Amino acid sequence: MKKKPQVMSVGGNIHKPRQEVRWFVVICLFVLVVFLGIKITVIAFLNSVPESFFSLSDTQSDRSLNHAPDRFPFAEQASQSGEYHWLSLPNTAPAPSDNPTTPSKVRLGETLFFDKNLSADRSLACESCHRLYEHAGADGASVSTGIRQQKGDKNAPTVWNTAFQKRFFWDGRAVSLEEQALKPFLNPIEMGMESSQAIVDRVKEQPKYEALFSAAFTGETDITIEKITQAIASFERTLITNDSPYDDFVRGDRSALSQQQLNGMALFSEVGCTHCHFGPNFSAASVFNPGLPFRIFPANETPLIKKYGFGGLPPKEKVWRVPTLRNVELTGPWLHNGSVKELRDVVKIMSQAQLGRSHSREFIWSGSTLDLLENPDLTDTQVDDIVAFLKSLSSKRLSKAG
Ligand code: HEC
Ligand code: HEC
Repeated sequence: MKKKPQVMSVGGNIHKPRQEVRWFVVICLFVLVVFLGIKITVIAFLNSVPESFFSLSDTQSDRSLNHAPDRFPFAEQASQSGEYHWLSLPNTAPAPSDNPTTPSKVRLGETLFFDKNLSADRSLACESCHRLYEHAGADGASVSTGIRQQKGDKNAPTVWNTAFQKRFFWDGRAVSLEEQALKPFLNPIEMGMESSQAIVDRVKEQPKYEALFSAAFTGETDITIEKITQAIASFERTLITNDSPYDDFVRGDRSALSQQQLNGMALFSEVGCTHCHFGPNFSAASVFNPGLPFRIFPANETPLIKKYGFGGLPPKEKVWRVPTLRNVELTGPWLHNGSVKELRDVVKIMSQAQLGRSHSREFIWSGSTLDLLENPDLTDTQVDDIVAFLKSLSSKRLSKAG
């Protein structure tokens, strides 16, 4: 016969196992605390060891040295490896089907672009703030000055190669050059015109335009605001520079760039500038690239960001259209508020704010392994190399004119 299991009597013995559980929990907690303590101490210790001990910055800068010209895959070579490919700009910019670019329309657009009568007090033309040759399509000022000496709050971007962008203005609020062209006329602190009709009237009062319009719009005699903005956009579509040393290099002249520029070019893609400034126009917002034309700036706040007045903005205002870097050497001061007057500082800002390169290294515990996050800020040599590369994007024609 099976023995009946003994039923434990409800009595004094019951306290014993409960106490064991309690001790077990206490010991576990103790071990956990000691373990965490050790972990935190190790991480704190490792993160406080002087950088030279790890000599990371040396290996970092070594990487940028003496890149041979033939290591850069470029335009004509098909991408085999998914490696970044360097491209030049075509000679013509795409135009919308309802506004094909024609020589007579371009001539009309150019005349309008230089016409000071199209501002309220007849003091400013488009070209006053977009000096085509003196300032490579910008105005050389931190922020632009409109009619009656009014100051805006934005830096004037270049109009060269803007035809290859798919969004316009720093915040990308205009989606076509035709749409963009109307805004400065009507902006009260730029050209200050009261209405579209007022602009049309100022055009009509000048007899020279009659022939220009009828040539541009095949015999049509009426002058409208649509035709005005279409002609200006057509003229802007001819403002192309693909005569920079970089373009020569990409088209096969392997001696077009200096060793320092080649080092900068390698770094430019290695550190991740090409994440946002890519393709023939060095901009995520260009017509060559599908996808998002905007990026958050500053993505990280650093002392340099605060110094130049970029910190503390509401999130919505932190999203900007990625600008082209062509001719960037010639279009300072830089960034949307024009507060940065040294191209070196722009590169440092980008490295810190956009690539998170503000600290040298950090140890973190991820799962069961101790990982080293290494994202050191660019060394002075690296910054100089990247600046040298950016200068290779300057049009030779515009460099001579400036
Ligand atoms: C008072 C100076 C001033 C005048 C005059 C002016 N602009 Fe601008 N332009 C600017 C500024 C400043 C911006 C940037 C504004 C912003 O992003 O909010 C700009 C932006 C632009 C852009 C966008 C470029 C890009 O890549 O995003 C184009 C194109 C342009 N202007 C063309 C024109 C045309 C065409 C005219 C004449 C109808 C004109 N501008 C008149 C100062 C001026
Ligand atoms: C995450 C995207 C991103 C990355 C990565 C990035 N940039 Fe930028 N860059 C931007 C945006 C957005 C702006 C416009 C900022 C503003 O609103 O002023 C900009 C502006 C610039 C300008 C100023 C252009 C002008 O006309 O004022 C330069 C120069 C520049 N970047 C160079 C670089 C370099 C060099 C690197 C790599 C070290 C880099 N960028 C990495 C997004 C990026």
